[in-house]
Amino acid sequence: MNGFFLPVRFYEGPGCSSKLWDILTDMEPGGGRILMLCWDRGVADRPEFCGAPEGFSVVKRVFNASNPTVEQLYQVYLETRGTPPDTVVAIGGGSVMDVGKSLCCLYGREIDSVQELRRIMVEKDYAAPRVRWIGIPTTAGTGSEATCWATIWDPEMGTKRSVELRENYAFAAIVDSELSKGMPLTLAVSSALDAVAHAVESYWARGTNLVSRALALGAIETVMGGIDGLLEGDDTAHETMARGSMMAGMAFSNTRTTACHSISYPLTMAAAIPHGTAVSMLLAPVMRLNTGTYSGEARLLAALGVSDAWELEERIRDILRRSGQPSSLEAWGVKREDLPEIASRGMTRGRADNNPAELSAASILKILEEIYEDKGFKKAV
Ligand SMILES: NC(=O)c1ccc[n+]([C@@H]2O[C@H](COP(=O)([O-])OP(=O)(O)OC[C@H]3O[C@@H](n4cnc5c(N)ncnc54)[C@H](O)[C@@H]3O)[C@@H](O)[C@H]2O)c1
Ligand SMILES: [Zn+2]
Repeated sequence: MNGFFLPVRFYEGPGCSSKLWDILTDMEPGGGRILMLCWDRGVADRPEFCGAPEGFSVVKRVFNASNPTVEQLYQVYLETRGTPPDTVVAIGGGSVMDVGKSLCCLYGREIDSVQELRRIMVEKDYAAPRVRWIGIPTTAGTGSEATCWATIWDPEMGTKRSVELRENYAFAAIVDSELSKGMPLTLAVSSALDAVAHAVESYWARGTNLVSRALALGAIETVMGGIDGLLEGDDTAHETMARGSMMAGMAFSNTRTTACHSISYPLTMAAAIPHGTAVSMLLAPVMRLNTGTYSGEARLLAALGVSDAWELEERIRDILRRSGQPSSLEAWGVKREDLPEIASRGMTRGRADNNPAELSAASILKILEEIYEDKGFKKAV
């Protein structure tokens, strides 16, 4: 059966963030208090985010950490809950958008400790959101503007958590590549590869559907077709990446991700491998595991521009090397003796069980061993 639901208004194109005040004015009821959560003060002061029309009051706050923790989310909640906003406008990468959308589920609850916030996340005991949010990505990869879940990290407890509520989709997503074109190359490439993983995983997910599959193929062709331009400094590449990332976000908003994301979380936690880089390193070995378990593999390979998973492995390693990032777990500083422990934490509920091929700690360990070293291209015969 096919089904698809995405109640977000999407605006895309260079300069489209100048529409923000029109979009806010069109919201019913209009006006009110706006919390602008921004990755950096400079972006908060851009002309398109200043000059609020009459009836609006705006509080701007910078949040520039990557991979937000439970403690950091609690801190922003504490600082803003006194006069909660009517709308959160989250202008940043996945980290800022995930904090912004999480806040909407927390206002209205009296939360007096980090431990209480953890309990709420574990029991999914959220308030029905009275506050709406608008996502304005400044990286191009997470697609968080299209999803109703947020990743909140809990390094103290050694786990990744999720704030997730079906009623908490963005009122609008404003995808303006003018905001992402200043990214450093490593972040641009890491987030672009995150988008590729969202699309590939959406395509082969057990929970896939017709609309997601079409969006996924379009997203993969867009990002993989433009990534050499990004690496070579092509002026139009950021626009291509922003569009591809948005399409991948739309695709996986209805399917979720699979093994690559599931296995990546402990890698990011253990070795601080950026999210998109970690998932991209897992794409080829997971593709080898999944071969024959889903339909349409030839179309997927064609969209990726490779003939098989071995060629995909070499293509991803090449992209990572050219962006100045390590392309093996060893080079990221992971110790070989830690692989079994990392593998044992790679089964994330809702992700691992959405992979077309069965996953186990043993198959995850094999995958981790395959990406441990970078020995160059070594196609099996
Ligand atoms: N909710 C979802 O659907 C979803 C999907 C994928 C990933 N995620 C989460 O998103 C996070 C990663 O997000 P990300 O890859 O966008 O990176 P990020 O948001 O963590 O940003 C990385 C760093 O770059 C800075 N930054 C942001 N925009 C910038 C710009 N234009 N120029 C220069 N620096 C900039 C940030 O302040 C931060 O310090 C992870 O926590 C991941 O788990 C969420
Ligand atoms: Zn991701």
